[in-house]
Amino acid sequence: MNAVSALILGIETSCDETAAAVVGGGARLLSNVVLSQVPVHRIYGGIVPELASREHLRGIVPIVRQALEQAACELPQVAAIAATRGPGLVGALLVGLTYAKALARAAGKPLIAVHHLEGHIHAVLLDRRNQGLPEPPFPAVALVVSGGHTSLYWVEREDQRFRYELLGKTRDDAAGEAGDKVAKMLGLGYPGGPVIDRLAPAGDEHAVRFTRPKLKGNPLDFSFSGLKTAVLRHVETHAMAAGIAARRAALGAGAPDVEKLRALCDQPTLDLIASFQYAVAAELADKTLAAAEQRNAASVLLTGGVAANRRLRRELDEAGRARGFEVFAPPIRLCTDNAAMIAAAAWPHFLAGDFAGPEVSAEAQWALA
Ligand code: KG4
Ligand code: ZN
Repeated sequence: MNAVSALILGIETSCDETAAAVVGGGARLLSNVVLSQVPVHRIYGGIVPELASREHLRGIVPIVRQALEQAACELPQVAAIAATRGPGLVGALLVGLTYAKALARAAGKPLIAVHHLEGHIHAVLLDRRNQGLPEPPFPAVALVVSGGHTSLYWVEREDQRFRYELLGKTRDDAAGEAGDKVAKMLGLGYPGGPVIDRLAPAGDEHAVRFTRPKLKGNPLDFSFSGLKTAVLRHVETHAMAAGIAARRAALGAGAPDVEKLRALCDQPTLDLIASFQYAVAAELADKTLAAAEQRNAASVLLTGGVAANRRLRRELDEAGRARGFEVFAPPIRLCTDNAAMIAAAAWPHFLAGDFAGPEVSAEAQWALA
């Protein structure tokens, strides 16, 4: 097997998905297995770190086996093993990284330690290559927006080497975290981002006007906690408590049934959901495009779990086009946490011989670049 098609086994356990994937040459998606822990954490309304580690321990061996089987390959055929080193929950990261180390040692393969956000960025490239489409032109501005992160990066590329510079980040909640909290507040279950996405088209997104956060310092930083508080205030002053209680009672501990929730939302609630979603999408799109204009970017990348949001995708695509930027966003299964993105991000490190030693540790806080 030559370097062009070398297979990389990727492992991702930074948060609440146990994931493994096999990617050939940073381009061919051979398998992408994701075991979500959402049903385990749902009753707590958020991720419980101890439970996350326990579930990763349960899932990691069968998930890696499935990824190899689906790719029709065995460990000896793999050229390297890549795992997420950070950032994330330290106990969760340790499960994937330690297993990757053990596999690498047993099979005599190099180990590549990958930054989770570099993974999200490379999901965009993997998708384009896998479809045989042209890659986004660089340098690019990348918005990585998820339950844990809302960060803008400047990404430069020289052949297969990438350089990242952080341009702005959230000062408080990540956009996905704010969405999940607002959904919880409105009795829409957990995780609420996808539910908001599905309910918002039934509301008027201009019905409730939220003021934009005014931040001192870096104009490319984000803040979503004020918006969350404004939603809470709106709920308190608009007699929405009874509707919320009815939705909570109907939801129980199960997965959110969007049709049922839709029937339990009156028009003012749907308007509030749509207006919240629009406020988040507009804020994200405006700052991303401001960064792209400032830096004269060749393209814009949109990635991370919240990049699955249809309104955000449309807003950034339309506003980007109007300002002369093409926006590249991967399909949903590559936006949310997965290991294919980790195997893809490992590819440039593989080519550079940038391997991790057995002493490599998990990093709960780890800056990219
Ligand atoms: O990237 P990801 O899977 O995990 C983290 O690294 O955080 O992102 C999960 C986040 C959650 O907050 C979830 O509610 C949000 O992404 N999310 C969405 C959508 N799908 C997932 N938010 C809005 N609209 C969606 N369609
Ligand atoms: Zn993520």
